[in-house]
Amino acid sequence: MNNIKAAITAIGGYVPDYIMTNHELEKMVDTNDEWIMSRTGIKERRILKEEGKGSSDLAVNAIKNIFKKTHHKAEEIDMIICATATPDMIFPSTACVIADKIGAVNAFCYDLMAACSGFLYSLTTASKYIESGSHKKILVVGTDKMSSIIDYQDRATCIIFGDGAGVAILEPNSEGLGIQDSILRSDGSGRNFLHVKAGGSVKPITKDNIEKREQFAYQDGQTVFKTAVKSMADVSAEIMEKNNLSSSDISWLVPHQANKRIIDATARRMGVGNDKVMINIEKYGNTTNGTIPLCLWEWENQLRKGDNIILAAFGGGFTWGSIYMKWAYDS
Ligand code: UT7
Repeated sequence: MNNIKAAITAIGGYVPDYIMTNHELEKMVDTNDEWIMSRTGIKERRILKEEGKGSSDLAVNAIKNIFKKTHHKAEEIDMIICATATPDMIFPSTACVIADKIGAVNAFCYDLMAACSGFLYSLTTASKYIESGSHKKILVVGTDKMSSIIDYQDRATCIIFGDGAGVAILEPNSEGLGIQDSILRSDGSGRNFLHVKAGGSVKPITKDNIEKREQFAYQDGQTVFKTAVKSMADVSAEIMEKNNLSSSDISWLVPHQANKRIIDATARRMGVGNDKVMINIEKYGNTTNGTIPLCLWEWENQLRKGDNIILAAFGGGFTWGSIYMKWAYDS
């Protein structure tokens, strides 16, 4: 039996400099800091303001962050999977653009779309290539310039999202560390509760649908909220049970950062205390595919070899899932 596991061996992150505060949003829509903080836990988010820059540029900065602090080199990467809901363009893939920008000339590349669950789907997909022995060094990217699809006239949506990227390098591990298990789920019947109505093949962009503001992300917040609370908590409890883990075995919970109340509900269901939950939603809001790797990047110095970590996410589709991993290195 093959005992090679896929482990994260480096993690990088990047958020743009511009800080959009709740007070700035107060000038754009009918909202206020107190409402946003109490309903979501978000105080501010980062926005990529530079003309002509997109999700690939956020990712490239996160990758540079890895190259600066580790021995990894672009030419050694044999595959790039990019999870994004805001690709640079419909095609070619943002993964191909990233490879070109960093000089990953030996990598084969593609994008993976699973909305906010994209990083978990990508990590699981990449782990299979590593476990099979076909690939040795995979860059798994989660990047989104959400500000490019947000309607800053829609107070139910614009308060949540921000821009950012996180990147992990995945390599073989023969010590039993790395990804142990994953549970991934989808339910396409939920697609109309969180989506961008125009710009795809069903409804290409026209003057008419731009006037209706259908090029922006739309969400039925309450339905998404209720489904997210149940799904993320259920799948996290399920992966613990499947792997005989009790709450005391968990070193860290790394939840998707969409709403602090969803995070708290998941942690409660798992019996995990606040001190073991990575939360940076207050500073960055919901960066979609960026949230989970950004947390790992920010907490990297506190992670120890062998730590049991549960990742959990929920997003448009609907898509959701959970990964159980053993951290593979001391920083
Ligand atoms: O990454 C996955 C994707 N997204 C999510 O997971 C997000 C899930 N949903 C949520 O986080 C929450 O549903 C929201 C934060 C979007 C909304 O919070 P809520 O507690 O579900 O509010 P609500 O939609 O039930 O609205 C409550 C009230 C309404 O007013 P009335 O009808 O009670 O008078 C809204 O019109 O709050 C109003 N409201 C606001 N008020 C001030 C909605 N948005 C705002 C706002 N500021 N930004």
